[in-house]
Order: sequence, then structure tokens, then C-alpha cells
Amino acid sequence: MSTEDNSAFLEVVNIKTHFETPRGVVRAVDDVSFSLTRGRSLGIVGESGSGKTILVRSIMGLLPKRGTLREGAVMYRGENLINKTPAEMRGTWGREMAMIFQDPMTSLNPLMKVGKQIAEPLMSHLGMEKATAWATAEKLLHDVHIAEAQRRLSQYPHELSGGMRQRVMIAIALACGPSILFADEPTTALDVTVQAQILELINEQRRQRNMSLLLVTHDLGVVAGNTDEIAVMYGGKLVEKAPTKTLFAEMKMPYTHALLESIPKLNHAAHTRLATISGRPPDLVHPPKGCRFAPRCHFARDRCHSEEPPLTAGKSPDHVYACFYPVGSAEYSERKVEISRS
Ligand SMILES: Nc1ncnc2c1ncn2[C@@H]1O[C@H](COP(=O)(O)OP(=O)(O)OP(=O)(O)O)[C@@H](O)[C@H]1O
Ligand SMILES: [Mg+2]
Repeated sequence: MSTEDNSAFLEVVNIKTHFETPRGVVRAVDDVSFSLTRGRSLGIVGESGSGKTILVRSIMGLLPKRGTLREGAVMYRGENLINKTPAEMRGTWGREMAMIFQDPMTSLNPLMKVGKQIAEPLMSHLGMEKATAWATAEKLLHDVHIAEAQRRLSQYPHELSGGMRQRVMIAIALACGPSILFADEPTTALDVTVQAQILELINEQRRQRNMSLLLVTHDLGVVAGNTDEIAVMYGGKLVEKAPTKTLFAEMKMPYTHALLESIPKLNHAAHTRLATISGRPPDLVHPPKGCRFAPRCHFARDRCHSEEPPLTAGKSPDHVYACFYPVGSAEYSERKVEISRS
């Protein structure tokens, strides 16, 4: 595929990932579809437990084997990955799809020098000679803006700062030149300044390498400036998706609106209480019958509790949402007046 080809090259079609547990079947990802275009970035946002990580793991085929029920298709460059075995996926991991995790300390090997951790996949996946692999590892550390790269190669992870360890993780993820980078909460363990630098680095590398990025976070503020498109998940479902600008200008789901309200704003007075979404996320063994957000939604009506809202297109076809009484509808505005009076 040429780098100019902008057609969707990852297509996730109606995927379901359910887990059998003693308590019943957990519907962690429940009928999610979306596509990703070469070189573009998609943010996946939602509260804890909404199924973000399991969605990413479902695409990459990184799921426990026992008790996992999977349906749907993961089409990557015209091939369905859903039923591939780990042995069959080995050529895809690292080379086509790579992943950065939240906490580098759990994914870096504490007993192995940084250089070896970067060089090994280069030798095993790309068949590089040792000397070339180490030279490439050094270049990768330069790419992720680590100073004194040569010295760092012979250090252990604990000798590096948190931000630097995350940069090493990014270098490892980039090593085999993947087409898609999955970043699952890559900055939550870092302080705000380092967080911004890491996101900038991920985006810089995405542009330079024409990679696609799938950035997972619970923070709508993080995806706002860092992705082309945003998908919002709630209770294992995709409930709203739109190009980033459209989402912020015309969000339709009361849930998306509530997520936005929960971001701290600079212009808030010092002791203003932060709006949080009251109530608890749905039980994924016994999810509510209608809209999964209805029990927590101030705008829900009878229909929302009995009927599941389908994903519907907004003004533009690339904006979809699952809500019967979206932000801006007559019923929504009517309820808003009632709330402000009470
Ligand atoms: N192996 C498993 N067996 C049973 N349930 C699981 C398993 N793995 C995940 N789950 C459940 O699936 C749901 C989705 O989990 P997931 O880790 O995708 O959430 P998340 O959106 O990534 O949350 P967070 O923001 O906390 O990382 C959760 O309710 C979780 O408890
Ligand atoms: Mg997660």
C-alpha cells in the first residue's frame, strides 16, 4: 500500500468481546464498529471500565484464551484478524501494530538494559545483525528525544525518570516501523508537563512515519488537541463518534457533555466544585435494557429505559451518536429548563 493511500485500512466491524465469569457473562465490548484511515488519529474516551482497553486488545488479538467469547471482524488491509492464533499474529505485532501501555515499569523488563530491549525485536522481527540493531536502537532514542542516547543504551529502566521510560517504550513500539500505534493511557502516570511532551512526541512520530494512532484515555481534554477524531465509549458500547472539532462544537450525547463538564477548566474560580457524573457505570453482566446511560442521565425519558437507541448520523454522516433526546433537541431543552427551575 502506498503512503498516499488514504482509504480505511483498519476496519472494526461489530466486534463483541465477552468474558465468561462465575457471576455471568461480562459484555466488555458490545457490538462496536469503526474504521481508521492511514496516518489519522482516533481518540477513544470513556470512564473506567467502559471497555477501552479490551477494545484495543480485541483488535490486536491480545486477550485471555480461556472464557473469552469473540464475534465480529477486524479487517486489516483486507484480511480478517479475528480468528488468528497468537502464532499467526506474531508477524503483525510490532511490525504492523504496536502498543504503548500506561505504566512502562510493568512492560519494560527491569533486569535488561534499555539497549537490549530495543535491539532484540529488531533482530528477531527484522532479522538485523547485532551491530546494526544497536545502532538503530541508538537512533531510535534520538528520535524520541533522549539525550546522551549511547550512554542510556547501557542503563537499566530504574535508572531513568518516568518520562524517559515512557520515551523508551515509544522507541520500542516504533522500532519495527508499525502502521498503527495503540497508546493506552500513555501519560496518566506522568505529571502534566511531561504528559504534554509525550503526547507531542507521539504525534510528531505519527506525522513523520504516516502511522495511524489510536489514543485511549479517560480524559476528553487529552484527546481534544491530539486526535483527528474522537469515539466515546460507555458500558462497552460506542455511543458517539465525530471529527474532533465537530464533537466539541456539536456534541449530542448527554454523556459526552457530562465528560466535558468533568474536565477542570482554567477559568473556573479556585474552589469551584468540579462537576462529576453521579451514579455508577453499568453492570456489564446485567446491563440496563434500553440506553446504558439512562439510569444516570438527567434527560432520560421512558423510552430510554426500554429501547436501545441506535447509532444515528448527525448533520454530517461522519458524526454518529446513540441518543433519542440529544443535546439541542426540544425534549432536551425542555428538561434543561425544568432542571434550572428546580
Ligand atoms: N479477563 C476478564 N474477565 C472478566 N471481565 C473482564 C476481563 N477483563 C476486563 N474485564 C471487564 O471488562 C470491562 C472493561 O474493561 P477495560 O479494561 O476495557 O476498561 P477501561 O475502559 O480500559 O477502563 P480503565 O479506564 O480503568 O482502564 C470492565 O468491567 C472489566 O472489569
Ligand atoms: Mg484501560
